[in-house]
Amino acid sequence: MNTIIMAGGSGSRLWPSSRSLFPKQFLSVVGNDTMLQATLARVDGLNSGSTSVICNEEHRFVVAQQAQDFGAELSSIILEPVGRNTAPAIALAAFDALESAEDKAPLLLIMAADHVINDVAAFHSAVEVAQAQAEAGSLVTFGIVPESAHTGYGYIQRGAEVAGKGGQDGAYVVSRYVEKPDAATAQSYMEAGGYYWNSGMFLFAADVYLNELKAFRPDIYTACEKAFANRQRDKDFLRIDADAFMACPDESIDYAVMEKTDKAVVVPLSAGWSDVGAWSSLWEIGDQDASGNVSSGDVLSHNTVNSYIRAEHRLVATVGLDNVVVVETNDAVLVAAKDQVQDVKKIVEALKAQN
Ligand code: GDD
Ligand code: MG
Repeated sequence: MNTIIMAGGSGSRLWPSSRSLFPKQFLSVVGNDTMLQATLARVDGLNSGSTSVICNEEHRFVVAQQAQDFGAELSSIILEPVGRNTAPAIALAAFDALESAEDKAPLLLIMAADHVINDVAAFHSAVEVAQAQAEAGSLVTFGIVPESAHTGYGYIQRGAEVAGKGGQDGAYVVSRYVEKPDAATAQSYMEAGGYYWNSGMFLFAADVYLNELKAFRPDIYTACEKAFANRQRDKDFLRIDADAFMACPDESIDYAVMEKTDKAVVVPLSAGWSDVGAWSSLWEIGDQDASGNVSSGDVLSHNTVNSYIRAEHRLVATVGLDNVVVVETNDAVLVAAKDQVQDVKKIVEALKAQN
């Protein structure tokens, strides 16, 4: 099995800590390791042949440095000249694995570099269940029991059990896969039951993925094949041909393949997973004190409850706050209502429009 870590996202909802030159996957948001390093730690000990990272060209040195500091050997750092979303990124990694892996039919464990998983042992057991399904030719996704009708996730309806002992140890046919439904649809899935959130991590054989991509999105397949054919290797860096890759459509694996394939299987995962989609996630997964506050850095609070306060450079003092997020960095400060932090991306859009 080969691990592929996708590290090409922009993480704009974690502004002002997350910036385009230094997006959230390269930051420490919990503990000392950065999110990329925590991902490397999470796959350590799995039966994994090699680990590669796929990211934007402009982040090549950050990735190389963080992997080195962590003590991980990467087999490739695949560099995208532009972001074309996850369907093309995974196709490039699959072409690379087919060519460089010792194994003739390499399995790919696709990880996101910007997630938190508390229970690594539970994650490893789920990977073991998934591996058997991937060896049998399925495209496996890991399903999270949904907590709300969140519209930022893919929803997976569980069908018949294909293997295992049921519940956490099982694997199930995916009877429906709906990427980011609208609020009413998400609500109806919550009420119906039997749905999971897609975790955004996958396990499948490289050739099975490429065949499905070729069947459903030959345009993406062909563009990636061409971009990979004209690659250049520069030590660990694998540079993808810019002109060919720029012509590739922008699409996620969820829309391009997972919604369409009949080879999808879901393995439930209950491991304290979070995709840290917004600052409120860090409050949810953080160590809340007696007042329900999560703080990091030099913070002094009085009469403050249920808030997330992060001080990166200066002392931050708060008085009389309830349900607020405060994030201080060296050149920008965010103060937001905790239940509206999804809209931090509106600030990022406004800043982009100004520049
Ligand atoms: N290399 C590379 N290139 N990585 C990318 C690119 C790209 O062009 N685009 C995104 N990524 C990485 C991100 O860094 C992240 O780790 C992962 O791929 C998923 O991308 P997101 O942009 O964060 O996707 P999402 O959160 O909107 O949706 C996906 O994840 C959800 C769970 O977190 C989907 O798979 C949903 O179905 C899922 O519920
Ligand atoms: Mg995400």
